[in-house]
Amino acid sequence: MAVEHGRVSIHGEWSSRWVFILATSGSAIGLGNIWKFPYIAGVYGGGAFVLVYLLCIVLVGLPIMMSEVMLGRRARQSPINAMRTLSAEAGAARPWRLLGWFGVVAGFLILSYYSVIAGWSLGYIFNALAGDFRDVGAEGVSGIFNQLISSPLHMLVLHTVFMILTIAVVARGVRSGLERAVRLMMPALFALLLVLVLYAMMTSGAFMQGLHFLLYPDFSKLTPTGVMVAMGHAFFTLSLGMGAVMVYGSYMPGRSSIATASLMVVIADTLVSLLAGMMIFPLVFANGLEPGQGPGLLFQTLPIAFGHMPAGVLFGALFFILLTFAAWSSSISLVEPAVAWLVENRGLSRPAAAILCGIIAWLLGLGTIFSFNVWADYRLFDRSFFELLDFLTSNIMLPVGGLFIAIFAGWIMPRAMTEGELATGRRVYASWRVVVRYVSPVAVIIVLLNLLGVLRG
Ligand code: TRP
Repeated sequence: MAVEHGRVSIHGEWSSRWVFILATSGSAIGLGNIWKFPYIAGVYGGGAFVLVYLLCIVLVGLPIMMSEVMLGRRARQSPINAMRTLSAEAGAARPWRLLGWFGVVAGFLILSYYSVIAGWSLGYIFNALAGDFRDVGAEGVSGIFNQLISSPLHMLVLHTVFMILTIAVVARGVRSGLERAVRLMMPALFALLLVLVLYAMMTSGAFMQGLHFLLYPDFSKLTPTGVMVAMGHAFFTLSLGMGAVMVYGSYMPGRSSIATASLMVVIADTLVSLLAGMMIFPLVFANGLEPGQGPGLLFQTLPIAFGHMPAGVLFGALFFILLTFAAWSSSISLVEPAVAWLVENRGLSRPAAAILCGIIAWLLGLGTIFSFNVWADYRLFDRSFFELLDFLTSNIMLPVGGLFIAIFAGWIMPRAMTEGELATGRRVYASWRVVVRYVSPVAVIIVLLNLLGVLRG
């Protein structure tokens, strides 16, 4: 049984298995699904990219998610201490402990830019309410976006507000903070996405064209970089590879099946991404926009729809409110590993730890803000600071972290340690073990080997 080693988390536990699923879906579903997935699918050519992404979700994402939850729940500590405890327990070499630290660093780097983009969403709530989208066309909407990203001050204010929101929840403890809000907001977001997809279906006149772009695999458009980004995004969208899911797993009640819970999170996350694509691409084609325009895609297409639909002010504001909430329930999981460790090992109070982490991520975020304006001309490997940070974290650090998690769970931990903790049927356990030992690591290694070629290209 899961509880036989008798560990209890000092941070508390989710009140039920459902809350674990809710919180982990909250972490997974965020800007990655609604902002990032459509824009990278657009840049890397659509259908074939999406297919590779879906393959990575099934063969790499799901098994690694199960592994992370399992490691967390067995250790019931922050990822840094979990790796220490479990490597001692499994008789593994000391460097395995570094895995927890690696994840904490990745978490800070991601949060720093995640908060800036979430700030865009926050800002768009006010644009929507002010009626800025009314009857707006493609040009007007890119004017609004360019005005935002060319103003460091505006972005700084929004980034600061979002970071404060994140820290406020982490400071109170995940359970009493966001749990209640997320219970309401996530279903609402899902419903609104459905409404917007229906709207695109009925009015854009380009629904089939959008669907074709999203789902028809044209392999001539698939590049090595595209494959790498697809895999990186499978990690990013499921919050894998840096300990976020591990720390959420450490608060999961014992006994409940990790396989079922992980599967539900993966399905919900994938559904939301596909819906986001079905909402955006018809609008892109109907308005003669460019699918590969990059990070501004969501912000330069959706307002056109809000500007023309009945009650567009309401729907527009609601959409960006819900998107901000989705980002909020994700960002907290990016600092939770660091905060849990500071509480465990440095004796800080939760609020002090949260504020400290928030300040560090806030400062790093300045780099992302400036990379859209004052530093826009500084480029390395043809990428801005923001693009480099995103590339480094999503496409390198998360897959590397995930690779080691898979190796640790599949090869280093003895069977007896993993089988009881996963608490799943014999067949499911056997398939998990084969995939996590062979398929996932090999897939990640092959894609990572592309890196040198990708950077040169
Ligand atoms: N998965 C979230 C999204 O798609 C972002 C996120 C939250 C994340 N926690 C993470 C990404 C941990 C990587 C690792 O928006």
